Amino acid sequence: MQNETFMSQRDTKGNEIECMMSRMLQDSTFRQLRDFIYEQSGIYIPDTKKYLLENRLVSRIEGKKLKGFEDYLYLLKYSPDGEEMTRLFDAITTNETSFFREPQQLDLFIAAVVPRVLEEKSKTGNRDLKIWSAACSTGEEPYTIVMMLLEKSNTKTMKVDVYASDISEGVLNSAKRAVYGPYSVRNMTEFYLKKYFTNSGQIYTLSPSVRSMVKFMNINLVDEKKMRAMHSMDVVFCRNVLIYFDDRAKQKVVSLIYDSLRSGGYLFLGASESLHNVTRAFRPIIINKTLVYQRA
Ligand SMILES: C[S@@+](CC[C@H](N)C(=O)[O-])C[C@H]1O[C@@H](n2cnc3c(N)ncnc32)[C@H](O)[C@@H]1O
Repeated sequence: MQNETFMSQRDTKGNEIECMMSRMLQDSTFRQLRDFIYEQSGIYIPDTKKYLLENRLVSRIEGKKLKGFEDYLYLLKYSPDGEEMTRLFDAITTNETSFFREPQQLDLFIAAVVPRVLEEKSKTGNRDLKIWSAACSTGEEPYTIVMMLLEKSNTKTMKVDVYASDISEGVLNSAKRAVYGPYSVRNMTEFYLKKYFTNSGQIYTLSPSVRSMVKFMNINLVDEKKMRAMHSMDVVFCRNVLIYFDDRAKQKVVSLIYDSLRSGGYLFLGASESLHNVTRAFRPIIINKTLVYQRA
Protein backbone atom coordinates (compact mmCIF):
# COMPACT_ATOMS: atom_id res chain seq x y z
CA MET A 1 0.00 0.00 0.00
CA GLN A 2 1.17 3.49 -0.73
CA ASN A 3 1.83 5.15 2.63
CA GLU A 4 1.78 8.76 1.60
CA THR A 5 -0.55 10.60 -0.69
CA PHE A 6 -1.01 14.20 -1.82
CA MET A 7 -4.20 15.99 -0.98
CA SER A 8 -5.32 19.55 -1.40
CA GLN A 9 -6.00 21.91 1.49
CA ARG A 10 -6.45 25.66 1.86
CA ASP A 11 -3.85 27.85 3.54
CA THR A 12 -4.74 30.71 5.93
CA LYS A 13 -5.34 33.02 2.94
CA GLY A 14 -7.68 30.52 1.29
CA ASN A 15 -5.21 29.43 -1.41
CA GLU A 16 -5.34 25.81 -2.43
CA ILE A 17 -2.13 24.00 -1.47
CA GLU A 18 -0.95 20.45 -1.92
CA CYS A 19 0.13 18.64 1.22
CA MET A 20 1.16 15.20 2.17
CA MET A 21 -1.11 12.89 4.05
CA SER A 22 0.45 9.97 5.87
CA ARG A 23 -1.42 6.67 5.99
CA MET A 24 1.19 5.25 8.37
CA LEU A 25 0.09 4.79 11.96
CA GLN A 26 3.21 5.18 14.10
CA ASP A 27 3.41 2.81 17.09
CA SER A 28 3.30 5.63 19.65
CA THR A 29 0.23 7.20 17.99
CA PHE A 30 -1.37 3.76 17.78
CA ARG A 31 -0.93 3.33 21.53
CA GLN A 32 -2.45 6.75 22.25
CA LEU A 33 -5.39 6.07 19.92
CA ARG A 34 -5.87 2.64 21.43
CA ASP A 35 -5.90 4.05 24.97
CA PHE A 36 -8.33 6.77 23.95
CA ILE A 37 -10.72 4.25 22.31
CA TYR A 38 -10.47 2.01 25.35
CA GLU A 39 -11.31 4.81 27.78
CA GLN A 40 -14.28 5.87 25.68
CA SER A 41 -15.78 2.48 24.82
CA GLY A 42 -14.12 -0.41 26.67
CA ILE A 43 -13.00 -1.79 23.28
CA TYR A 44 -9.40 -2.96 23.55
CA ILE A 45 -7.39 -3.18 20.34
CA PRO A 46 -4.36 -5.48 20.76
CA ASP A 47 -1.04 -4.77 19.00
CA THR A 48 -1.84 -7.52 16.51
CA LYS A 49 -4.89 -5.57 15.31
CA LYS A 50 -3.05 -2.31 14.64
CA TYR A 51 -3.57 -2.81 10.89
CA LEU A 52 -7.33 -2.97 11.47
CA LEU A 53 -7.38 0.42 13.16
CA GLU A 54 -5.19 1.85 10.42
CA ASN A 55 -7.48 0.52 7.67
CA ARG A 56 -10.69 1.58 9.34
CA LEU A 57 -9.60 5.12 10.18
CA VAL A 58 -7.81 6.11 7.01
CA SER A 59 -11.08 7.14 5.33
CA ARG A 60 -11.87 9.42 8.29
CA ILE A 61 -8.51 11.13 7.86
CA GLU A 62 -9.17 11.57 4.15
CA GLY A 63 -12.74 12.71 4.82
CA LYS A 64 -11.59 15.35 7.28
CA LYS A 65 -8.63 16.30 5.05
CA LEU A 66 -6.16 15.75 7.88
CA LYS A 67 -2.44 15.17 7.53
CA GLY A 68 -2.34 11.92 9.46
CA PHE A 69 -3.29 9.92 12.54
CA GLU A 70 -1.73 12.42 14.99
CA ASP A 71 -4.07 15.13 13.75
CA TYR A 72 -6.98 12.72 13.91
CA LEU A 73 -6.25 11.94 17.55
CA TYR A 74 -6.08 15.66 18.28
CA LEU A 75 -9.45 16.18 16.57
CA LEU A 76 -11.04 13.40 18.60
CA LYS A 77 -9.73 14.77 21.86
CA TYR A 78 -10.54 18.39 21.26
CA SER A 79 -13.38 18.46 18.71
CA PRO A 80 -16.06 20.52 20.42
CA ASP A 81 -19.26 18.85 19.18
CA GLY A 82 -18.27 15.21 19.56
CA GLU A 83 -19.43 14.51 15.98
CA GLU A 84 -16.18 12.73 15.21
CA MET A 85 -16.67 10.42 18.20
CA THR A 86 -19.85 9.16 16.56
CA ARG A 87 -17.93 8.51 13.34
CA LEU A 88 -15.14 6.82 15.29
CA PHE A 89 -17.55 4.38 16.96
CA ASP A 90 -19.12 3.61 13.58
CA ALA A 91 -15.66 2.91 12.14
CA ILE A 92 -14.14 0.77 14.89
CA THR A 93 -17.04 -1.48 15.87
CA THR A 94 -17.62 -4.93 14.43
CA ASN A 95 -21.32 -5.31 13.76
CA GLU A 96 -21.68 -8.91 12.60
CA THR A 97 -25.17 -10.24 13.40
CA SER A 98 -28.15 -12.02 11.84
CA PHE A 99 -31.74 -13.04 12.55
CA PHE A 100 -32.10 -16.12 14.79
CA ARG A 101 -28.38 -16.10 15.65
CA GLU A 102 -27.39 -18.73 18.23
CA PRO A 103 -30.85 -20.33 18.20
CA GLN A 104 -30.30 -22.60 21.24
CA GLN A 105 -30.24 -19.50 23.45
CA LEU A 106 -33.34 -18.07 21.82
CA ASP A 107 -35.15 -21.37 22.32
CA LEU A 108 -34.12 -21.42 25.96
CA PHE A 109 -35.35 -17.84 26.32
CA ILE A 110 -38.78 -18.73 24.93
CA ALA A 111 -39.19 -22.20 26.41
CA ALA A 112 -37.79 -21.66 29.92
CA VAL A 113 -36.96 -18.05 30.75
CA VAL A 114 -40.13 -16.29 29.57
CA PRO A 115 -42.48 -18.78 31.31
CA ARG A 116 -40.50 -18.40 34.55
CA VAL A 117 -40.65 -14.62 34.34
CA LEU A 118 -44.39 -14.69 33.59
CA GLU A 119 -45.01 -16.98 36.54
CA GLU A 120 -43.05 -14.73 38.90
CA LYS A 121 -44.92 -11.69 37.59
CA SER A 122 -48.31 -13.32 37.96
CA LYS A 123 -47.63 -13.72 41.69
CA THR A 124 -47.07 -10.00 42.11
CA GLY A 125 -49.71 -8.82 39.62
CA ASN A 126 -47.00 -7.01 37.61
CA ARG A 127 -47.96 -7.03 33.91
CA ASP A 128 -44.81 -5.42 32.47
CA LEU A 129 -42.20 -7.50 30.65
CA LYS A 130 -38.94 -5.62 30.04
CA ILE A 131 -36.33 -7.04 27.67
CA TRP A 132 -33.15 -5.30 26.56
CA SER A 133 -30.85 -6.15 23.66
CA ALA A 134 -27.81 -4.25 24.92
CA ALA A 135 -25.57 -4.34 21.82
CA CYS A 136 -28.17 -4.76 19.12
CA SER A 137 -26.13 -3.84 16.03
CA THR A 138 -28.47 -3.52 13.00
CA GLY A 139 -31.53 -4.80 14.89
CA GLU A 140 -31.74 -8.48 13.95
CA GLU A 141 -31.48 -9.61 17.59
CA PRO A 142 -34.30 -7.48 19.12
CA TYR A 143 -36.55 -8.07 16.09
CA THR A 144 -36.00 -11.84 16.40
CA ILE A 145 -36.97 -11.58 20.07
CA VAL A 146 -40.18 -9.74 19.18
CA MET A 147 -41.16 -12.23 16.45
CA MET A 148 -40.51 -15.19 18.77
CA LEU A 149 -42.52 -13.60 21.57
CA LEU A 150 -45.40 -12.99 19.18
CA GLU A 151 -45.34 -16.57 17.90
CA LYS A 152 -44.30 -18.65 20.84
CA SER A 153 -45.12 -17.02 24.16
CA ASN A 154 -48.17 -16.31 26.20
CA THR A 155 -47.53 -12.59 26.55
CA LYS A 156 -50.78 -11.30 25.02
CA THR A 157 -52.01 -9.94 28.34
CA MET A 158 -48.66 -8.33 29.15
CA LYS A 159 -47.24 -4.93 28.32
CA VAL A 160 -44.05 -5.94 26.50
CA ASP A 161 -41.21 -3.42 26.25
CA VAL A 162 -38.27 -4.40 24.04
CA TYR A 163 -35.35 -1.96 24.29
CA ALA A 164 -32.39 -2.14 21.93
CA SER A 165 -29.20 -0.12 22.11
CA ASP A 166 -25.77 0.19 20.57
CA ILE A 167 -22.82 2.58 20.64
CA SER A 168 -22.83 3.03 16.85
CA GLU A 169 -25.26 5.56 15.41
CA GLY A 170 -24.76 4.04 11.93
CA VAL A 171 -26.08 0.60 12.93
CA LEU A 172 -28.93 2.14 14.93
CA ASN A 173 -30.09 4.08 11.86
CA SER A 174 -29.96 0.92 9.82
CA ALA A 175 -31.88 -0.97 12.56
CA LYS A 176 -34.64 1.63 12.47
CA ARG A 177 -34.90 1.33 8.66
CA ALA A 178 -35.21 -2.48 9.08
CA VAL A 179 -34.33 -3.33 5.49
CA TYR A 180 -32.16 -6.43 5.17
CA GLY A 181 -30.21 -8.45 2.63
CA PRO A 182 -30.07 -12.23 2.17
CA TYR A 183 -27.10 -12.68 4.54
CA SER A 184 -29.09 -11.33 7.52
CA VAL A 185 -32.11 -13.52 6.93
CA ARG A 186 -30.24 -16.71 5.96
CA ASN A 187 -31.17 -18.59 9.17
CA MET A 188 -34.82 -17.63 9.12
CA THR A 189 -37.55 -20.09 8.18
CA GLU A 190 -39.99 -19.43 5.33
CA PHE A 191 -42.70 -19.06 7.97
CA TYR A 192 -41.14 -15.94 9.53
CA LEU A 193 -40.00 -14.55 6.20
CA LYS A 194 -43.48 -14.76 4.71
CA LYS A 195 -45.33 -13.58 7.80
CA TYR A 196 -43.16 -10.66 8.86
CA PHE A 197 -41.34 -9.40 5.74
CA THR A 198 -42.16 -8.07 2.33
CA ASN A 199 -39.50 -8.71 -0.24
CA SER A 200 -38.46 -7.37 -3.54
CA GLY A 201 -35.66 -9.41 -5.09
CA GLN A 202 -32.95 -9.75 -2.49
CA ILE A 203 -34.26 -6.98 -0.25
CA TYR A 204 -36.36 -7.90 2.80
CA THR A 205 -38.34 -5.21 4.62
CA LEU A 206 -39.61 -5.95 8.10
CA SER A 207 -43.24 -5.32 8.87
CA PRO A 208 -44.05 -2.12 10.81
CA SER A 209 -45.93 -4.20 13.41
CA VAL A 210 -42.61 -5.71 14.56
CA ARG A 211 -40.58 -2.53 14.06
CA SER A 212 -42.90 -0.51 16.25
CA MET A 213 -42.36 -2.86 19.19
CA VAL A 214 -38.64 -2.01 19.61
CA LYS A 215 -37.35 1.20 21.18
CA PHE A 216 -33.85 1.99 19.90
CA MET A 217 -31.37 4.06 21.92
CA ASN A 218 -27.72 5.02 21.74
CA ILE A 219 -26.13 3.59 24.88
CA ASN A 220 -22.44 3.11 25.41
CA LEU A 221 -22.08 0.15 27.78
CA VAL A 222 -19.30 1.89 29.76
CA ASP A 223 -21.31 5.09 30.20
CA GLU A 224 -22.50 4.84 33.80
CA LYS A 225 -25.05 7.61 33.53
CA LYS A 226 -26.83 6.11 30.53
CA MET A 227 -26.57 2.59 31.91
CA ARG A 228 -28.16 3.63 35.20
CA ALA A 229 -31.21 4.86 33.29
CA MET A 230 -31.89 1.21 32.35
CA HIS A 231 -33.41 -0.58 35.31
CA SER A 232 -35.90 -3.28 36.35
CA MET A 233 -35.08 -5.40 33.27
CA ASP A 234 -36.42 -8.95 33.26
CA VAL A 235 -34.02 -10.19 30.60
CA VAL A 236 -30.87 -8.63 29.11
CA PHE A 237 -29.19 -9.94 25.97
CA CYS A 238 -25.56 -8.79 25.82
CA ARG A 239 -24.28 -11.16 23.19
CA ASN A 240 -21.02 -11.11 21.27
CA VAL A 241 -19.77 -7.78 22.53
CA LEU A 242 -17.79 -8.55 25.71
CA ILE A 243 -15.23 -10.29 23.48
CA TYR A 244 -14.03 -6.85 22.36
CA PHE A 245 -13.35 -5.69 25.95
CA ASP A 246 -10.50 -6.46 28.34
CA ASP A 247 -11.19 -7.93 31.81
CA ARG A 248 -11.50 -4.55 33.54
CA ALA A 249 -14.06 -3.26 31.02
CA LYS A 250 -15.95 -6.56 31.11
CA GLN A 251 -16.21 -6.30 34.91
CA LYS A 252 -17.47 -2.76 34.72
CA VAL A 253 -20.08 -3.50 32.03
CA VAL A 254 -21.31 -6.69 33.68
CA SER A 255 -21.68 -4.89 37.00
CA LEU A 256 -23.74 -2.14 35.32
CA ILE A 257 -25.90 -4.78 33.62
CA TYR A 258 -26.35 -6.51 36.98
CA ASP A 259 -27.73 -3.25 38.36
CA SER A 260 -30.06 -2.88 35.36
CA LEU A 261 -31.73 -6.23 36.06
CA ARG A 262 -34.43 -6.72 38.64
CA SER A 263 -33.63 -9.26 41.31
CA GLY A 264 -34.09 -12.70 39.68
CA GLY A 265 -33.69 -11.25 36.15
CA TYR A 266 -31.77 -13.11 33.44
CA LEU A 267 -28.67 -12.36 31.36
CA PHE A 268 -27.74 -13.99 28.05
CA LEU A 269 -24.17 -13.67 26.77
CA GLY A 270 -22.94 -14.95 23.40
CA ALA A 271 -22.64 -18.74 23.06
CA SER A 272 -18.83 -18.55 23.28
CA GLU A 273 -18.77 -16.06 26.17
CA SER A 274 -18.96 -16.60 29.92
CA LEU A 275 -18.62 -14.76 33.21
CA HIS A 276 -15.79 -17.06 34.28
CA ASN A 277 -13.09 -14.80 35.80
CA VAL A 278 -15.40 -11.80 35.47
CA THR A 279 -17.85 -12.03 38.39
CA ARG A 280 -19.54 -14.48 40.72
CA ALA A 281 -22.53 -12.24 41.28
CA PHE A 282 -24.75 -14.19 38.85
CA ARG A 283 -26.09 -17.72 39.21
CA PRO A 284 -25.28 -19.80 36.12
CA ILE A 285 -28.19 -21.99 34.97
CA ILE A 286 -27.65 -24.65 32.31
CA ILE A 287 -30.67 -26.11 30.53
CA ASN A 288 -30.27 -28.36 27.47
CA LYS A 289 -26.52 -27.56 27.45
CA THR A 290 -27.28 -23.86 27.10
CA LEU A 291 -26.17 -21.26 29.62
CA VAL A 292 -28.12 -18.34 31.02
CA TYR A 293 -27.22 -16.25 34.06
CA GLN A 294 -29.62 -15.16 36.79
CA ARG A 295 -29.20 -12.17 39.06
CA ALA A 296 -29.25 -13.34 42.66
C1 LIG B 1 -20.83 -8.38 16.96
S1 LIG B 1 -22.12 -7.25 17.28
C2 LIG B 1 -23.26 -8.27 18.16
C3 LIG B 1 -24.69 -8.01 17.79
C4 LIG B 1 -25.72 -8.93 18.46
N1 LIG B 1 -25.74 -8.76 19.88
C5 LIG B 1 -25.46 -10.37 18.11
O1 LIG B 1 -25.03 -11.14 18.96
O2 LIG B 1 -25.68 -10.75 16.95
C6 LIG B 1 -21.38 -6.26 18.56
C7 LIG B 1 -22.06 -4.91 18.73
O3 LIG B 1 -21.58 -4.32 19.95
C8 LIG B 1 -21.52 -2.92 19.76
N2 LIG B 1 -20.63 -2.32 20.77
C9 LIG B 1 -19.27 -2.38 20.85
N3 LIG B 1 -18.83 -1.69 21.91
C10 LIG B 1 -19.93 -1.17 22.52
C11 LIG B 1 -20.12 -0.35 23.66
N4 LIG B 1 -19.08 0.09 24.41
N5 LIG B 1 -21.38 0.01 23.99
C12 LIG B 1 -22.43 -0.43 23.25
N6 LIG B 1 -22.32 -1.21 22.16
C13 LIG B 1 -21.07 -1.57 21.80
C14 LIG B 1 -21.03 -2.77 18.33
O4 LIG B 1 -21.33 -1.51 17.80
C15 LIG B 1 -21.73 -3.92 17.63
O5 LIG B 1 -22.89 -3.49 16.97
